[in-house]
Amino acid sequence: MATQTASSRSTPLAVEWVGGVDGFLKLIDQTRLPTEIVYLECRDVETVWEAIKMLRVRGAPAIGIAAAMGVVIGVRDVARLADAGAFFGKLRETTGYLRTSRPTAVNLFWALDRMERVAKESRESPSSAIAERLLHEAEAIRTEDRDMCAAIGRFGAALLPDRGGVLTHCNAGALATADFGTALSVLFHAHDAGKQIHAFVDETRPLLQGSRLTAWELQQRGVPSTLLCDNMAALVMRQGKVQAVVVGADRIASNGDAANKIGTYGVAVLAKAHGIPFYVAAPSSTFDLSLADGSGIPIEERDPKEVTHGFGRQTAPDGVSVYNPAFDVTPAELIAGLITEKGVLRPPYKDSIAETLD
Ligand code: MRU
Repeated sequence: MATQTASSRSTPLAVEWVGGVDGFLKLIDQTRLPTEIVYLECRDVETVWEAIKMLRVRGAPAIGIAAAMGVVIGVRDVARLADAGAFFGKLRETTGYLRTSRPTAVNLFWALDRMERVAKESRESPSSAIAERLLHEAEAIRTEDRDMCAAIGRFGAALLPDRGGVLTHCNAGALATADFGTALSVLFHAHDAGKQIHAFVDETRPLLQGSRLTAWELQQRGVPSTLLCDNMAALVMRQGKVQAVVVGADRIASNGDAANKIGTYGVAVLAKAHGIPFYVAAPSSTFDLSLADGSGIPIEERDPKEVTHGFGRQTAPDGVSVYNPAFDVTPAELIAGLITEKGVLRPPYKDSIAETLD
């Protein structure tokens, strides 16, 4: 019987393109997991925007890939008209629209910038050829992300003990990327290398990406895991069950401050208090070197209903005031290492990030 390795995929792809330029973007509707695997076929840009906004596709790298593919969908009809002015007008309209879907994950903006750049570089070609070139680029973004996630897994696995507990928050797995994930790639690779890793999974209120998605992925890949409510992390750390924390990121500033799912900052503070190393795993597409520190990272605020109606029914009184930021920023001084596809960056991050990623 073949053994399962991180390189042999065992969860379905979260985001992929089917067919040629006239094809479609195929997503797993992540709002339906873990009880159902339902695919969504996006053939117009409004459906792509809605899928990103409503977290049917989510996780920083996956959002970037979906948006890049959304650009192809947005421009392909106009590309047939062979009018360069109309084509570039539609391109600007499409990228501008997709930019409004979610604000925090920089991968979205990084991917859209890259698509615009490629179109401009090909501006002497017929519009139909530029559309083909854009599909090629979107596919390249997906393939590169898969390779970066695999490399992150290899570098990160070496940081974990041969035996021990690893806590993670939210979902930074295959579902959030082209494959493997960032934080979860580290766990998958450590597990495949024979390390006796036990994952502790924060459920991640309000939308439960930890319990719905991460616990599911770990099960699919055979990594032993235990699900925790978010407010249990301190206790399990105190009990000595956690030897490392690994999380993903949505945007990392040039000093190493890292935005990730709301609650990550609290986990980092707890890890510091218990002397546990706290690692952030992310590809270079998640770094925003235009920002000096995390104070400039835009934090998405979402519908209060996500908090008041979290479990399929109303769980708070009518009219209650709600604060629902989707992300927080972990200060660089709480981060023991940034696990990237180029290696593990160590403090001072201003220097290691500039030397490695600039
Ligand atoms: O709101 P989400 O589910 O898109 O938030 C996702 C996260 O915070 C992930 O940890 C992050 O995007 C890293 S994914 C590799």
